[in-house]
Amino acid sequence: MLPAPPDFSIRSAMVDDLDALIALERAAFTTDHLSPRQYRQHLHSTSATVLAAVDAGGLLGKAVVFYRAGSDIARLYSIAVAERARGRGVAKSLLAAVEATARDRACARLRLEVRKDNAAAIALYERLGFQRFGEKPGFYEDGADAWRYEKRLTDKA
Ligand SMILES: CC(C)(COP(=O)(O)OP(=O)(O)OC[C@H]1O[C@@H](n2cnc3c(N)ncnc32)[C@H](O)[C@@H]1OP(=O)(O)O)[C@@H](O)C(=O)NCCC(=O)NCCS
Repeated sequence: MLPAPPDFSIRSAMVDDLDALIALERAAFTTDHLSPRQYRQHLHSTSATVLAAVDAGGLLGKAVVFYRAGSDIARLYSIAVAERARGRGVAKSLLAAVEATARDRACARLRLEVRKDNAAAIALYERLGFQRFGEKPGFYEDGADAWRYEKRLTDKA
């Protein structure tokens, strides 16, 4: 039997999503929140992509990616899925869309930081082919350490 198609879709986030993005941000993270002002900037910026996973009931998840001029490395700054929607492949779909968007922008690699104590996110990234390549001690506002992960988006060395 074929797997059921997802009952949600992924699209670019819009200004109308702002309140839901902020609510999800606050529910999913205890520190290092993006502010409404920062979200507003990123929604309009050419050096950022904000993706939204939505269903008929509203926002299920979001991913924020940054690009730097002259660099072929995209950075996944943030990804979160609402508790009610976890375990349904929403993060996996968001990451597939993030990778496609980064490839469209000629990025060869996608990098991210993750708290060393965030087992769910580490499992997600490793399952999707990200490789650990370093760490950032005290990276988060509360002093927690981060692992650094990277995924190659092209076959080129
Ligand atoms: C981490 C997070 C984004 C995962 O979202 P999700 O939509 O539930 O993840 P998915 O359903 O797409 O899971 C994809 C894979 O990730 C792994 N995974 C996800 N949640 C997991 C968990 N709680 N424990 C272990 N593995 C997990 C699994 O390998 C899973 O694949 P499988 O279901 O085929 O085994 C979500 O738990 C979340 O928003 N957490 C709070 C915010 C956060 O920590 N963000 C990451 C910051 S770096």
